[in-house]
Amino acid sequence: MSHLDNDSFLRALLREPTPRTPIWLMRQAGRYLPEYRETRKRAGSFLALCKTPALACEVTLQPLARFDLDAAILFSDILTVPDAMGLGLCFAEGEGPKFERPLTREWEIRNLAAPDPCLELRYVMDAVAEIRRALGGSVPLIGFAGSPWTLACYMVEGGASADYHKVKTLAYTRPDLMHHILAVTTQAVTAYLNAQIESGAQAVMVFDSWGGALSEAGYQTFSLAYLRQIAAGLTREREGRRVPRIAFAKGGGLWLEALATSGFDALGLDWTMDIGRARALVGDRVALQGNLDPAVLFAPPEVVAAEAGRVLDAFGPHPGHVFNLGHGISQHTPPESVAALVEAVHTHRQK
Ligand code: CP3
Repeated sequence: MSHLDNDSFLRALLREPTPRTPIWLMRQAGRYLPEYRETRKRAGSFLALCKTPALACEVTLQPLARFDLDAAILFSDILTVPDAMGLGLCFAEGEGPKFERPLTREWEIRNLAAPDPCLELRYVMDAVAEIRRALGGSVPLIGFAGSPWTLACYMVEGGASADYHKVKTLAYTRPDLMHHILAVTTQAVTAYLNAQIESGAQAVMVFDSWGGALSEAGYQTFSLAYLRQIAAGLTREREGRRVPRIAFAKGGGLWLEALATSGFDALGLDWTMDIGRARALVGDRVALQGNLDPAVLFAPPEVVAAEAGRVLDAFGPHPGHVFNLGHGISQHTPPESVAALVEAVHTHRQK
């Protein structure tokens, strides 16, 4: 078994006891850090940063140099997979992600193929290996991918969407084509995550950011069914250790019980639901990760500490909690708030 100085994060995901509640933050490397903005400027763009392993490694480590975080997460993006499928990812300044060739016609959908992660996504595997070496066994490295449904939203809409008009129209009028996109993407994501594990990722997380846009029946059919397939296809052990898997379903509070039996070890929770209530629903079936409202980090340190305490007390004195935000950290967050949060979580004593 490879040595880790701090394996609290991996243990908590498997609901084993830990000396204190581990914490990491979604988007912990990013624009709220001046050193990230500096490296990004040097790279020329966000995508160049993702595609240059040495720079991706550098920014992955930046938040760990500042804060006592219990895990590192690969610096990349969920949209690298559709990019490798030929859709042409680009980021227009201040506009979010866009695809040059979104899926609009039947033949484009029929031609879709899963990329070989060791060829088209080689730069990601190189980044994973380089980050693992640089971490030197200090904390575990998380690999990640988007869920098939969330990726399909971007692939069909061509970018961010307020109402998911195009992708939902496709799902309800041509379910055959929708399922074809989801099946190919599931194959792509499973192979991509397994390649990250092979390259050194010690836990993996699937982001289902837009699952919450679906109805319950739609969620079962278009998202959960494919999450189950991914979980079933993931490498279970590597380097003599379990590789825990996390599913983050934004807006998924309503479907926690179904998610708890989908083959994931832990569920990421957004901030809308009380984490104690979530725990009562899932019981001992899965660990939970979350779920502070990222906006709390705009308040003074004593409010940050009090709100973090509220989440920790709501979860209660059981094993199986990884502290996180309910969604990615905002670019407007003062770094001092993050320092206050990490300190508060690590020194918290259960009420
Ligand atoms: O958590 C981490 O630190 C790892 C890195 C990471 C990024 N994106 C970096 C990033 C991860 C895990 C993601 C996941 C991701 N990307 C998701 C799922 C999580 C979620 O937020 O719901 C989604 C939907 C995307 C797609 C995406 N990428 C969007 C919508 C944007 C624009 C958002 C914005 O704030 O402008 C991106 C760009 C992006 N991905 C940035 C970062 C640090 C900002 C890039 C920059 O301008 O420097």
